[in-house]
Amino acid sequence: MKGETKKEQVLFFLSRAGKTGISGEEIARELQVSRAYVWKLVGALKEEGYAITGTQHKGYVLNTDEKLCAPAICAYLQKPWSVQTRLSVTSTNDVLKQEAQQGCPTRFLLAAERQTAGRGRKGHDFYSPERTGVYFSFLLRPQTDIEHAPNYTCKAAVAVCRAIETLTDREALIKWVNDVYVDGKKVCGILCEAETDLETRTLSYVIVGIGINISTENFPENIALRAGSIGKVDANRLVAEVMNAWDALEDRSMMEEYRQRSYVIGKKVTLTGKEQEGEFLAVDINDAGNLIVCDPAGKQRTLFYGDVSVKTR
Ligand code: BTN
Repeated sequence: MKGETKKEQVLFFLSRAGKTGISGEEIARELQVSRAYVWKLVGALKEEGYAITGTQHKGYVLNTDEKLCAPAICAYLQKPWSVQTRLSVTSTNDVLKQEAQQGCPTRFLLAAERQTAGRGRKGHDFYSPERTGVYFSFLLRPQTDIEHAPNYTCKAAVAVCRAIETLTDREALIKWVNDVYVDGKKVCGILCEAETDLETRTLSYVIVGIGINISTENFPENIALRAGSIGKVDANRLVAEVMNAWDALEDRSMMEEYRQRSYVIGKKVTLTGKEQEGEFLAVDINDAGNLIVCDPAGKQRTLFYGDVSVKTR
């Protein structure tokens, strides 16, 4: 939790101290090194781009709004996760998939400041510009049989909503199945991927990938009208709050909150894809995460999320 190297440990103590700050003397005592060595480590961290200020009154203060860092995420976590951060990756889901295939243990989380090939559902790109959003994936090895696995996408959506509401005064809603909306704009996308063992019918691993727009303002033309941001928050804290909410949510009861936060139930929706085309009334979402809609003749249909795209009106 505290980090492996002395430098990471300094980051951990700085992160935990927050805006209150911590003196060089205290860090030196915690790490059992000299104050001069702490000063040198702080200097090295500053050179790496960490915004650390030193005042006589407060000691060192790390501004974690500026940069993703694993010890800062860990300092806010309520339960242990192995955390790594990177400046830039192709896709955190793709990197984690490779890690999973090489035997990476459960509860591993990778967060990046930028993705060069961020992916969304149905082969779409996920716009992942540097620093103005946070892009992270976590790996689980649930060893649950496929039939009894919870709906990871729905659970992640609820966790993201809770985290946004903890850190901002804005209400977060869910557009079936995997988009989080704030003030009518999509601020987060979720992509869950899994590998199943067909012999044991269990999940070998699940990767939950989450991208949240924090302060992105200029979106590409094709998404500009519907994309938005949650507003400036500490990205490290945001990741940790999502994970804290994830750990606090019960698999059995979280669908109730998913339904309460639905952006589509009770609305007229336009469906595209497969045979289900046209306008329907969204009436419910069942515990398996399927959308129940009513056609104009009053007939109910159950939709699986791979099958259709939903537009609210
Ligand atoms: C969607 O909107 O269709 C889903 C978007 C999911 C984006 C996240 S960002 C972190 C992780 N890595 C990816 O390449 N995709 C997911």
